[in-house]
Amino acid sequence: MTGTTGTTGTALGAPAERREGRQKVTGAARYAAEYTLPGRAHAWPVPAAVARGRVRAVDTSAALALPGVLAVLTPGDAPRLAEPDDHTLAVLQSPDVPHRGWCVALAVAETPEAARAAARAVRITYDTAPHDTALTEDHPDAYVPEQVYNQPGRLQHGDPEAAYAASEIRVDVTYRVPPLHNHPMEPHATTAHWDGDRLTVYTSSQGGTTVRSVLAQLFRLPEERITVVAEHVGGGFGSKGTPRPDLVLAALAARHTGRPVTVAHPRRQLPTVVGHRAPTVQRLRLGARPDGRLTALLHEVTTHTSRVREFVEQAAVVSRVMYATPALLSTHRVVPLDVPSPSWMRAPGEAPGMYALESAVDELADVLGLDPVELRVRNEPDREPGSGDPFSSRHLVECLREGARRFGWAGRDPHPGVRREGPFLLGTGVAAATYPAQASPSTAAARALPDGTFLVRINATDIGTGARTVLAQVAADALGVPLDRVRAEVGHSDLPPAPLAGGSMGTASWGWAVHEACADLASRLAAHTGPLPAEGIETRADTSGKADADSPWARHAFGAHFAEVAVDTVTGETRVRRLLGVYAAGRILNARTARSQFTGGMIMGLGMALTEGSTLDPAFGDFTEADLASYHVPVHADVPDVEADWIDEDDPHLNPMGSKGIGEIGIVGTAAALGNAVHHATGIRFRELPLTPDRIL
Ligand code: MOS
Repeated sequence: MTGTTGTTGTALGAPAERREGRQKVTGAARYAAEYTLPGRAHAWPVPAAVARGRVRAVDTSAALALPGVLAVLTPGDAPRLAEPDDHTLAVLQSPDVPHRGWCVALAVAETPEAARAAARAVRITYDTAPHDTALTEDHPDAYVPEQVYNQPGRLQHGDPEAAYAASEIRVDVTYRVPPLHNHPMEPHATTAHWDGDRLTVYTSSQGGTTVRSVLAQLFRLPEERITVVAEHVGGGFGSKGTPRPDLVLAALAARHTGRPVTVAHPRRQLPTVVGHRAPTVQRLRLGARPDGRLTALLHEVTTHTSRVREFVEQAAVVSRVMYATPALLSTHRVVPLDVPSPSWMRAPGEAPGMYALESAVDELADVLGLDPVELRVRNEPDREPGSGDPFSSRHLVECLREGARRFGWAGRDPHPGVRREGPFLLGTGVAAATYPAQASPSTAAARALPDGTFLVRINATDIGTGARTVLAQVAADALGVPLDRVRAEVGHSDLPPAPLAGGSMGTASWGWAVHEACADLASRLAAHTGPLPAEGIETRADTSGKADADSPWARHAFGAHFAEVAVDTVTGETRVRRLLGVYAAGRILNARTARSQFTGGMIMGLGMALTEGSTLDPAFGDFTEADLASYHVPVHADVPDVEADWIDEDDPHLNPMGSKGIGEIGIVGTAAALGNAVHHATGIRFRELPLTPDRIL
């Protein structure tokens, strides 16, 4: 569906292979914990054993007596930091314990094993205080947040309560999503090294430019004295969007000991220190006419945050985007609890929000006796319902129709619980997907070299998506040269500053600057006569004022997910037979890496639907499912026929490439499509995730 451009062999849209693929599969790619600097030491965090209180005393004598132990940092003696904006980074600065698992000491030793042994030998006594980790809808501390990311916490059009009460058809349902964990393949890690007052960090981050500014602020250093290297990053899913404690702890320990120090959070510490998707309780009220047209849509979300900082899982925001309705309420209530700090996780807000909304829409289709694809089509808005702005492009209906055609939706018997195959009940389900298409300002440099090759330099981050590859494609396209003549350097703070790989904005933001630098370079070259100087010719671009300019358009990607499941009536297990996603996401810049992002998101949505879930232990105040033995992500045997494709979409209101972000939309709506399929199979509505056998039976 996507072609190559022009006669130059440039392959914008072509399925180019990841350039670092070979390095990764041969082990040559180095990750943050693998920089074996001379004299490097290792540090192991000591997590707080109480849910709320204060460190009264730290006895380090047994730890320091162990072989190979260099130091134990405590809240009393760790180097002092400037006050951070993000208080999750104020580690070892105060004896207060805001939640269980908060770092209360750091053991530094010659080896990771010695550091771990020392961490376990540190004796800490606490003054404890009562704690509360239970999220309830009627919690007395709940409040409506002013902002949820970049939107108001509460939005209302018309009189939704009255409109709902007056509606002929009504659906009033409450859906629950548990806490979820990001668990990237590479746990969070930093290797830090001081050379006088120069700091170098090798860190696992989605955005090195932010890492540098945060370090500059915390350690009161000019940015020029800080180098941040994030050449390869083993995933993040939002949990590496901004720095996490490993960065600060490594820099503190290196300063304290005078040695390079690596902090690699063990897997079991990740749930409490890197953020999680906060649980949501979502009440949906849909009022409709008998023809299916909505008369009222009320989406009310209750969620938690920590006492350390406010973060709101903005799950009701999707109701401002999806369907036409004369009366709309989209609102959040957040309860501060003594819990680990929640944060971004792939499609923060959209993933749980669309689970609830798209499940409720399926319930409405049932009540109306209307096909769920048709019900969605009947409620297409001409403008974005929340803002009233026109869409820059919106091809949701096309995704639904094309998906239905490929999936073989036509002629589906809507009756639930009637398709048997031995012990299995079979069902199919559909749900829509959406995610905003945004961009941030970036800089980039492009250089033409005398040998006819080109070098693009930008401090972008490749978190496993193939950023180097697609940026080389954008450059080759703008320069009008074959792809193999372009090299892209990313992941180092000496390169021109760029925003993070997050919010599905990386490629749009970086690509915009790369495109501009290369277009400029192409015109410089066209005007150039004679051979190039030895150092080549370089151009630089800065998209400030362009990428962040106010747009009159509502810009979102859309998609449709179709699922087929078999529910085992003997074991209660749900097996996925087919999963199909069809997307409209602007121009697809690399068919191979895009498909991988889409299916990766869908598989994460499959996990959200069927296996992933975490619980806060009310007595201990911590997550029970802290490792991959108890927190079940899908494995190959769980992932059958997963297919992703897209329809061509030409949107001139985005960026010079015409692309929308694709990193997050795959997880949006997938859980609803699966839940709707489970209902179609069994005839039972399960309104709490995940759909594990104990719930199904
Ligand atoms: Mo994504 S959760 O914005 O990294």
